[in-house]
Amino acid sequence: MKPRVLVTREVFTEVLDYLERHFDVTPNQADQPFSPDALAKALSDKDGALTVLTDRIDAGLLAKCPKLKVVCNIAVGYNNIDVKACRDAGVMATNTPGVLDDSTADFTWALILAAARRVTEAEAYVRAGEWKGWKLKQFLGADVHHATLGILGLGRIGQAVARRARGFEMNVLYHEPKRLPADVEKACGAAYVNFDELLSRADILTIHVPYSSATHHLVGAAQIAKMKPTAALIHAARGGVVDDTALIMALKRGTIAAAGLDVFENEPALNPEFLKLANVVMTPHIASSSTATRRNMAMLAAENLVAALTTGKPPNLLNP
Ligand code: DGY
Repeated sequence: MKPRVLVTREVFTEVLDYLERHFDVTPNQADQPFSPDALAKALSDKDGALTVLTDRIDAGLLAKCPKLKVVCNIAVGYNNIDVKACRDAGVMATNTPGVLDDSTADFTWALILAAARRVTEAEAYVRAGEWKGWKLKQFLGADVHHATLGILGLGRIGQAVARRARGFEMNVLYHEPKRLPADVEKACGAAYVNFDELLSRADILTIHVPYSSATHHLVGAAQIAKMKPTAALIHAARGGVVDDTALIMALKRGTIAAAGLDVFENEPALNPEFLKLANVVMTPHIASSSTATRRNMAMLAAENLVAALTTGKPPNLLNP
């Protein structure tokens, strides 16, 4: 009998075809999200699962899924999975590193340019039929070229963002808990500074750290207060790294000039105050969402599932 697996959300048909060659697959092409109880029920007789960032995999769920051997997240971030609980339950957990770095970095640049140059605000003005003529001081924004880009978290995605800054002839600074090797700094053209210096010197601050208890509200009121009043904050990492309430207050008061956000606390139920602000560009957690990249992410997760259930050695194991 083939192992039984659940695919918790809609995926590309070639990913399902690939899985069906190995497993008895329960798909969810209707893309209806599972409630926690429904997910536990659906997984109670499964050997493996392809999950997404909205599926919470914790000790409570694992206790109800005695056959489960592996969960493969279609995401590089895995804060929806309690990795320790998986380890305790003998369940492998995997993610999809590497395949989304460039697409996420490209999109970060879309947010940088849109926030600095007020693209969505100006577009809404045109669409509303409010444009009556050219004005010298219309939608004045901030230059990106030759500005200082501050990168919080110079991992794979942060590095891809830094490399793209070359074309804009920017001064690139970064902060990490531990300074990176000189060859990495050189390849990125990025100089190490402490967190306070990063905040106070950046014209554009972009965040690329994973979410965990250690990074919860890493950027809150105290940190935003150290930024320039002309600065823009860009966030395409994970909701919760930024204190959204503090950010809203800062955007209202002019503590900083603008924000470009792809992720939010409690998404999709983002703080409604964001919707009242003209100086924030918002997108619905789509930084990695190019067709090729989302397909590659889903296929890599599927490959992990096949490897886990056939060899016990998935390539992107989080809890060896
Ligand atoms: C990730 O891979 O963690 C992304 O946020 C999913 O879009």
